[in-house]
Amino acid sequence: MSTVPINPQVAAHILRCVHCGKVQETADRMFRCTQCSELLEVVYPEWASGAPGFGLRLKEIWRERRGSSLRENSSGVWRFRELLPQVDRQHMVTMCEGNTPLIPLKKAARELRIPNLLVKHQGMNPTGSFKDTGISTAITMAKTEGFSWVCCASTGNTSASVAAYAARAEMKSIVLLPAGQVAAGKLAQALEYGANVLQLRTDFDGCLRVLHEVVRKFSAYLLNSLNPYRIEGQKTVAFELMEQLDWRAPEHVIVPGGNLGNSSALGKGFMELRDLGLIESLPKISIIQAAGANPLVRTMRENGGKELIRVTPETRATAIRIGNPASWRKAVAVLKNTGGTCEEVTEKEIAQAKAELGAEGIGCEPASAATLAGLKKLVAVGFVKSADTVVLVLTGHMLKDVDYMKQLPGQNLLGPMEADSNAVIKTLEQIYARH
Ligand code: F0G
Repeated sequence: MSTVPINPQVAAHILRCVHCGKVQETADRMFRCTQCSELLEVVYPEWASGAPGFGLRLKEIWRERRGSSLRENSSGVWRFRELLPQVDRQHMVTMCEGNTPLIPLKKAARELRIPNLLVKHQGMNPTGSFKDTGISTAITMAKTEGFSWVCCASTGNTSASVAAYAARAEMKSIVLLPAGQVAAGKLAQALEYGANVLQLRTDFDGCLRVLHEVVRKFSAYLLNSLNPYRIEGQKTVAFELMEQLDWRAPEHVIVPGGNLGNSSALGKGFMELRDLGLIESLPKISIIQAAGANPLVRTMRENGGKELIRVTPETRATAIRIGNPASWRKAVAVLKNTGGTCEEVTEKEIAQAKAELGAEGIGCEPASAATLAGLKKLVAVGFVKSADTVVLVLTGHMLKDVDYMKQLPGQNLLGPMEADSNAVIKTLEQIYARH
């Protein structure tokens, strides 16, 4: 049995508007500010008066928990609970999420002349994407509030995660998906875990708009990333990453951008660590979008982040096929506060980067590969330098979207051929000769 103390110092939190700063008495179902309708964030006022040494103690406590088999300690989210909303242990919905590997790249590191190039593989979460960290915290809040139904709109991964965590929590889930735009692996997951799946003739933005109207009338807890408790779970990737890097912040963290919840969460996590004195400097957080779904890139280029420019999205990286991102204001703040940038990459560049990662034994889904494609551009313009440590956040597992892979030309797939050793040897001789 572990002797690690449980919840030694969890601070109370409030919800505050990210735009006008109004503190909310209660959150409405859409988690919007009652004054200006913008998104809310979780804030812990007591941290400001935290005792000296608070940060150092946290590092020790978190390290000790790594050897513990308690449910709340083996979760890569709840292990960091001092920096999360306080919850009753019995409501905690967890499946050991987080705890994902940090892997150095070799070939890409050589080719780009960035010796310290690593991937944080969030596709190694229980349902194969980074969503699990945020769904664990948000669905725990749903349970705390007594909901028995949860819901989301999704390009696929959120729906898989919501369905699985709802099943674990013995809750019912509803997911709205853009018909024909969700990778088969993700749809199969949602069905496997028993979600009520509604395919709508629209895109992700349309699904989210419809869901806004549905939750006003139907008592289901919203689990999209505009729910600020999602962000709290997702920010823990920054904590875990810093542990893995021995608390030395990398110069750059690069993440794909869709609805922009994940980049917001990463930024929040790093800024909290810096403010609490756990790290000395912030990494520059950069966001990569597909050229056909680039609302943030256009917003930054055309008006410096003042007003969102919506686009009609189109990309084969269906996870980030989003034109009207909910968390755009939070993402703009992250870019500005960390000194990061945003960049767009073409379909060809995404496919090329995905193939290069694959050739190193690192599988991921297309949206994740956008990070490597984006890095190449950032190196080319000198934004990322040779001496920098760079972490690419791979957001989803390769098996989520195998159709994407199958449609690419130039695979080493031969046959069908006769089941005859002579035929096989002849083919292998031809292959050997080519190498
Ligand atoms: N990568 C993957 C694999 C995703 O599934 C998503 C978003 C993103 C990147 C972008 O993250 O939205 O936080 O900027 N997928 C959502 C979904 C929209 O419904 O699964 P973001």
